[in-house]
Amino acid sequence: HASAEIASLVLEWFDRCGRHDLPWQRERSPYRVWVSEIMLQQTQVSVVISYFERFMAVYPTVLDLAAAELDGVLALWSGLGYYARARNLHRAARLIRDQHGGLFPDTQEALLRLPGIGRSTAGAILSLALDRSYPILDGNVRRLFARLFAVNGWPGNGPALARLWGLAERCLSRDRPGDYNQGLMDLGALICTRGRPQCPICPLAGRCLARAQGRQSQLPAPRPA
Ligand code: ADE
Repeated sequence: HASAEIASLVLEWFDRCGRHDLPWQRERSPYRVWVSEIMLQQTQVSVVISYFERFMAVYPTVLDLAAAELDGVLALWSGLGYYARARNLHRAARLIRDQHGGLFPDTQEALLRLPGIGRSTAGAILSLALDRSYPILDGNVRRLFARLFAVNGWPGNGPALARLWGLAERCLSRDRPGDYNQGLMDLGALICTRGRPQCPICPLAGRCLARAQGRQSQLPAPRPA
């Protein structure tokens, strides 16, 4: 039915047009995906790439990060902003060393207990690094699903966000969750953009309720004043 078709359209598009050689897609591991996702939370891919490469050169494993002084981590973060992200990374690395025997957790429950990891970041780690079927819902993907299913209301929290998680769960690919989630993020970043969505080249255009209703520029609803 509809959700299975959405997954296969996303995967087919991802194979043809998605991003396949970002640095965190090489030597894929939970640690590398985690660091990249935290960097990407408030910063664009083009900026993150060189920061990510430097970070991995200095701290190639979670144990290297745990052993580091906070000041060194903050120095490498300098320019990325939102320094709480770097403090949380460092604290989480020490928790992984001290409470998980240095092994990166591989369950959603354990990931959610680490500082700075919410449901979407946990889903990204589980799916992109481990190919486990968990949904993601970062800002770009919220926008994409809000349009695809014409979800009304501000998707930042509350009932609209809960509805989007349900839809994200339902549409998830069960056989290629990592590629599917990367494809959704790429579609959100490259096609289903905030300002001028590129509907004519979107693989989901034929299934998009916002487009059918001519409301793609009105959705998602803005944050209430
Ligand atoms: N933004 C958040 N996660 C991303 C990823 N894995 N690739 C590209 N952009 C992203």
